Amino acid sequence: MSDLFEKIVSLSKRRGFIFQSSEIYGGLSATYDYGPLGVELKRNVTQRWWKAMVQKHQNVSGLDAAIMMHPTTWKASGHVDAFNDPLIDDKTSKMRYRADQLIEGHIDRLRRKGKDDQADKVYADLVAALNADDAAKALYDVIMSEEIRSPDSGMFDWTEVRQFNLMFDTHIGPVSNSDNKIYLRPETAQGIFVNFHNVRETGRHQVPFGIAQIGKAFRNEIVARQFIFRMREFEQMEMQYFVKPGSQMEAFEAWREERMQWHVDNGIRESKLRWHEHEKLAHYADAAYDIQYEFPIGWQEVEGIHSRTDFDLKAHQEHSGKKLEYFDQQANEKYIPYVVETSAGLDRTILTLLCEAYREEEVGGDTRSLMKFHPRLAPITVALFPLVKKDGMPELAHSIEDGLREHFATSYDEKGAIGRRYRRMDEVGTPFCITIDGESVEEKTVTVRHRDSMEQARIPVDNLVAYLNDQIASWKAS
Ligand code: GAP
Repeated sequence: MSDLFEKIVSLSKRRGFIFQSSEIYGGLSATYDYGPLGVELKRNVTQRWWKAMVQKHQNVSGLDAAIMMHPTTWKASGHVDAFNDPLIDDKTSKMRYRADQLIEGHIDRLRRKGKDDQADKVYADLVAALNADDAAKALYDVIMSEEIRSPDSGMFDWTEVRQFNLMFDTHIGPVSNSDNKIYLRPETAQGIFVNFHNVRETGRHQVPFGIAQIGKAFRNEIVARQFIFRMREFEQMEMQYFVKPGSQMEAFEAWREERMQWHVDNGIRESKLRWHEHEKLAHYADAAYDIQYEFPIGWQEVEGIHSRTDFDLKAHQEHSGKKLEYFDQQANEKYIPYVVETSAGLDRTILTLLCEAYREEEVGGDTRSLMKFHPRLAPITVALFPLVKKDGMPELAHSIEDGLREHFATSYDEKGAIGRRYRRMDEVGTPFCITIDGESVEEKTVTVRHRDSMEQARIPVDNLVAYLNDQIASWKAS
């Protein structure tokens, strides 16, 4: 893990953003709990997403489907047969790896050594192997021919490559047998597809329209060692947009633009975001791009925008025997709509915010660490500090906080030197600290100290809400 990543993991725990799940029992790998500040950050993100995707679009409705679904759902979607990772075991260390990632690591090493021609050839072999009918065998052949060694033991002592299904299963009811096996959903999207008619009819929608939801998803990830980047229980924010066949590319491009802007508006610098076009399209997709962020572990996917054709609705129509067609009155024709999907990971979005916000700065011979969150997303917007615990300052600070609480997330702290209080708030990303001093009691003015510049301004108490709103509206990522 990189130094920066370790600092972010450590700050997340120390300041109550994110904890290892079941830590007192030694933890459960690749599962995490959000602490008091983490849950506020997460809530701010989901609220922004909901507003952008549902409330700002008259033709998009929300949904909250169950995590457990009829098992045929996953047969129809292709997850029972094809939601697999190709795995290979190092016989010496007993460590298990994803075969495609081993090859990608090998390609990166070749490039670092300046062997670009060989890297290009192995990359072409990798793409061909992933598209082969027997992908497991083809990936194994690449590992053998390139003599790729195990990253942990350095040995060249591999098992065959095997496909491993990523869905968690359980049983419904008192008896466990294959007839009552169900799955924890590995994506939220299928809950949307099976509710296509329910939402369309009750929302009185006509195509094009969208259905959006935020919810948990579960995947039995094998290589899951990167904090909240790859988890076994995580959250997705997904929207399926149903369109007339033939118009999918127009919708695809429009949603692509909107989704990239959403990440920029979260305060992510544009230089840290890029598009990645899928080399290998799923058999049902006719276009797919990822929004990637430059994490300390490299460029990685945060959100996928996929044009999924009519694959899912068609498959559910076949497996359920229920018509999932739409009658287009304007065109006077019946069709199964095509779907453009926007699929963002909530936890990965949180990780982009944590990585983007974390800064260390030299101040007067000292290092200050701060989280430069967008003020709209920061878990605490305003902290109130009475300079001393007497002379009417705590009372005035409490009464100002009462007035601000209606508008912003606030926090009150009267302990310790004022400089220390500022640093504590810098570390959790609070953009404004208000100090109440002797003059405040006399004149009804306070100082507002800015997290990013550390500058202070004297503001009348009556103007505070307007002043802070102005500052938030004009904030720019830097
Ligand atoms: N319905 C499409 C779908 O699920 P995906 O690319 O498999 O597509 C979408 O997942 C997003 O979900 C990813 O871009 C990522 O942000 C998030 N995601 C997927 N697997 C994850 C995991 N194991 N841990 C955390 N987030 C994950």
